[in-house]
Amino acid sequence: MLAVKTNKPVNFSESAQAKAREIMDRYPTGKHKSAIIPILHIAQEENENWLSVDTMDYVAGLMKIKPVEVYEVATFYSMFNLKPVGRFLLEVCHTGPCAVRGAEWLIDYLCSKLNIKPGGTTADNMFTVKGVECLGACGYAPMMQIGKYYYEHLDTPEKVDALIEQLRNRVDYKHENWVV
Ligand code: FES
Repeated sequence: MLAVKTNKPVNFSESAQAKAREIMDRYPTGKHKSAIIPILHIAQEENENWLSVDTMDYVAGLMKIKPVEVYEVATFYSMFNLKPVGRFLLEVCHTGPCAVRGAEWLIDYLCSKLNIKPGGTTADNMFTVKGVECLGACGYAPMMQIGKYYYEHLDTPEKVDALIEQLRNRVDYKHENWVV
């Protein structure tokens, strides 16, 4: 997927910069590049849960590595979003066990209910639906991740409807990763 360039200046908050430095300091001299995944999570949190080219370039500058070294990681892992996403990013697992238990139905049902295509975002910017690979909760299939929370056994329209309604009412919701 091609990343998006916004030409907007990027600057982490002071607390995010301090956290990034603290993570890099966990590694031996010259090996701090290994901190790139948690730092990209911080970058997403600082940029409404997605990574623009500008944000990735900022991370490269912060880590003193080449931009391409950031791009190659950010474009490989599905947890990094290369375009803007809705307030609630519905990451539906569609790997084997979840597929057998109805993941494709779940994605189709969500997309039809929200009037979007897979990977798309609702016009009000509330929801994005994205298919992802195994999230390690195969025994609770079909399931999805929203931020740091898992929602499992989503096998009926009633359960999905109730969850979407619950999310719509979460006015205080702020996306949080569970990794950093
Ligand atoms: S296959 Fe869906 S969580 Fe593992």
